[in-house]
Amino acid sequence: MIKKYSVKKLLNQGKFLLNKKVLVEGWIRSFRYSIFISLNDGSTIQNLQIVLSTNKLDKIIMKKITIGSSIRVIGIVKKSLGKKQYIELQSLDITIYKLVNQKIIQKSILQPKRHSFKKLREQAHLRFQTNIFSCIMRIRHHIAFCIHKYFHEHGFFYLHTPIITTSNCEGTGKMFQITTMDLKKNKLIDYEKDFFKCKTYLSVSGQLEAETASLGLGKVYTFGPVFRAENSNTSRHLSEFWMIEPEIAFYHLEENINLAEKFLKFVIRYIVENSMEDLIFLNKCLEQCKKKKKNDLLEKLEIILKFPFKKISYTETIKILDKEEKKKNIKFSHPIIWGMDLKSEHEQYLVDKYFKKIPVIIFDYPCSIKAFYMRMNNDGKTVRAMDILFPEIGEIIGGSQREERYDMLLQRMKDTNIDFNKLWWYLDTRRFGSVPHSGFGLGFDRLVQFITGMNNIRDVIPFPRTPNNAEF
Ligand code: 4AD
Ligand code: MG
Repeated sequence: MIKKYSVKKLLNQGKFLLNKKVLVEGWIRSFRYSIFISLNDGSTIQNLQIVLSTNKLDKIIMKKITIGSSIRVIGIVKKSLGKKQYIELQSLDITIYKLVNQKIIQKSILQPKRHSFKKLREQAHLRFQTNIFSCIMRIRHHIAFCIHKYFHEHGFFYLHTPIITTSNCEGTGKMFQITTMDLKKNKLIDYEKDFFKCKTYLSVSGQLEAETASLGLGKVYTFGPVFRAENSNTSRHLSEFWMIEPEIAFYHLEENINLAEKFLKFVIRYIVENSMEDLIFLNKCLEQCKKKKKNDLLEKLEIILKFPFKKISYTETIKILDKEEKKKNIKFSHPIIWGMDLKSEHEQYLVDKYFKKIPVIIFDYPCSIKAFYMRMNNDGKTVRAMDILFPEIGEIIGGSQREERYDMLLQRMKDTNIDFNKLWWYLDTRRFGSVPHSGFGLGFDRLVQFITGMNNIRDVIPFPRTPNNAEF
């Protein structure tokens, strides 16, 4: 049996395989001078050069070959005469799986020329075959992998929280309702007759369940899809996205903040160390797209690793923004008032201009703009919340120390109109060895967006779900 290699493995081990017979499979990326095929199989951004022989069979194949076609090649590994690659494959036998009609290719994003990201999205089922999207998908994989690695190595247990829920953890924003009832037939809907005997939704967060688990297992994290039915048509919002939510018993806000910073730096360092080839390729693409001489993707990542994140309270943040406006360094369209929710113009100014692209952690927000479960400070006005803002992206993490005191939590639920009868089990945990505990939620797709430098979050998830769009 002839051993089958991925293009990546063959290129990496090429030196040791000289003159060996091997088998590879892939899609044809280019075909030059009637003898050189560039073959890619998705394992790496690099292509393998196949050199056709002059035998009869190859001559027949040569006439048929088209870009995008899928083939299997058996050949001998040879040292390449060309400068671009160390090895190439001298073909002995080629099998064509499927030829692609060139007229069809010309209408698709696989036609080898530059296409807009919007066009790639319209053919989302084909974009895995493009260089840029395959790069992003490989990096996305490595980010997910090293997130699990980090938590596993730090004593966290991976917890699977439910996707179907009856409550809205965040209290704000719309949820997608799910039902098995025929709503057309039911004018007056009796949810007692529905599948779960009550109204159910797709979850916006696994936090409340993760809290209950942390109060027994100590350190847990979730990593799963969450759903939000807000009508936000921006470059940073998805209706279905992936979130990582660690939750840790006996953790105060400061420990939570430190964990978040170390964790983000670990992930970014891992990608810089393990996905350099793809990062360099993306950086080049971004230079061409933005028509810039030098793009700063790698520099941007280095800044994250090099400096400690800035840590300031919400009150200090308001003071800074107010001062900057008074000094006429900036004019915001929303006025700066203590108690307001920060808008993206404020976040952007703070991170990109004021702190020169170093991430900022803002803590102790007014209770009026944060969720019911955050621990109240002694001032009675602010809660132990923290948001992490990244350059370009804005909020990437939202977290807090949780309210562990039964009476205080009940009061907050009443004040914010949370149905505490429905959430009885959450409240109940505060009666059984309740302890200080904290956690946060990282928007996975926003992190992938930041690391890959993409302008639009829809370009870093295989099949984006956004308002008016659930195709594919
Ligand atoms: O700030 P959020 O809403 O926090 C929570 O859901 C908490 N339960 C987390 C916790 O403490 N365990 O969301 C967390 C993060 C945001 O900071 C953002 O990065 C991301 O999730 N996010 C979105 N990403 C893509 N599309 C959307 N519509 C998003 N909404 C939030
Ligand atoms: Mg938030």
